[in-house]
Amino acid sequence: MPVDLSTTIGSLEFPAPVMTAAGTAGHGAELSAYVDLSSLGAVVVKSLSAEPWPGNPAPRVHQTPSGMLNSVGLQGPGVAVWVRDELPGLVERGARVVVSIWGRSVEDYAAAARSLRAAEDRIVAVEVNLSCPNLDGGAHLFAHDPVATTDVLRSTEMLEVPRWAKLSANTDRVVEVARAAQSAGAEAVTLINTLIGMIIDTESRRPLLGGVSGGLSGAAIHPVAVRTVYEVRKAIPDLAIVGAGGVTDAITAIELILAGASAVQVGTATFADPRAVAKILDGLRTWCEAHEVSQLRDLIGGAHQTG
Ligand code: SIN
Repeated sequence: MPVDLSTTIGSLEFPAPVMTAAGTAGHGAELSAYVDLSSLGAVVVKSLSAEPWPGNPAPRVHQTPSGMLNSVGLQGPGVAVWVRDELPGLVERGARVVVSIWGRSVEDYAAAARSLRAAEDRIVAVEVNLSCPNLDGGAHLFAHDPVATTDVLRSTEMLEVPRWAKLSANTDRVVEVARAAQSAGAEAVTLINTLIGMIIDTESRRPLLGGVSGGLSGAAIHPVAVRTVYEVRKAIPDLAIVGAGGVTDAITAIELILAGASAVQVGTATFADPRAVAKILDGLRTWCEAHEVSQLRDLIGGAHQTG
């Protein structure tokens, strides 16, 4: 019997539990040269605002031990141009599209959500990015505060597709914030965004990244992601979780699933190998076969079981 890799996130069914992570597979069908996008659970598009935005000054990325630091600063074409230029290519390739949106203010999020309404028939969900550390030195980390999280999510209520909230482990209030997101209508939370870090260039004796600080991602943050998913699952067992953070292979994906994630997103690994997301999906199938798991969903939250 083939392994059943399907999963449920809130009201949505997905045939596979592996997705791209926002910001790591471009705005459109860039990965389709390497991966059959229709085989993935979803393609999560880099965060978009209502208007085009140039992002932060270079350098924007730097390799770190077991990961990377980025201060891209949410560069993007804006929702309307994306809908016109990028969405058709994703739809044509059979991708289930999740659109990440961002803003500097509650009104910005509302504007991005309003612009997306014209495309709701072609997307499956919206991931509300409340946790980018790279805007104005981290001044817009809505996910550090339950009230700000509530306000942002309420401002996107006009969307008819399910909304997920992308949260941060840079705060000790993540459970409280996840609860607020759920109460404000989020069907799922994505855990975690990058951790705030910094590199100093010892030759110039100045911060290396154009944005000064940046977001740390990759294998280095995986244990933080596992801990955060575990804590939120334990506190709010009825809230769906999409796990992200240092998923590099089937084992790291299974860890997040056992902690409580219903699906995982692959991010930094894609920069090292554009086929990573497909390889991880294949690896999950092989792992399940080897461990006689016929349905991957039976593993979700398994680490919480006693006895
Ligand atoms: C960025 O574009 O700066 C990264 C996005 C994020 O961390 O949410």
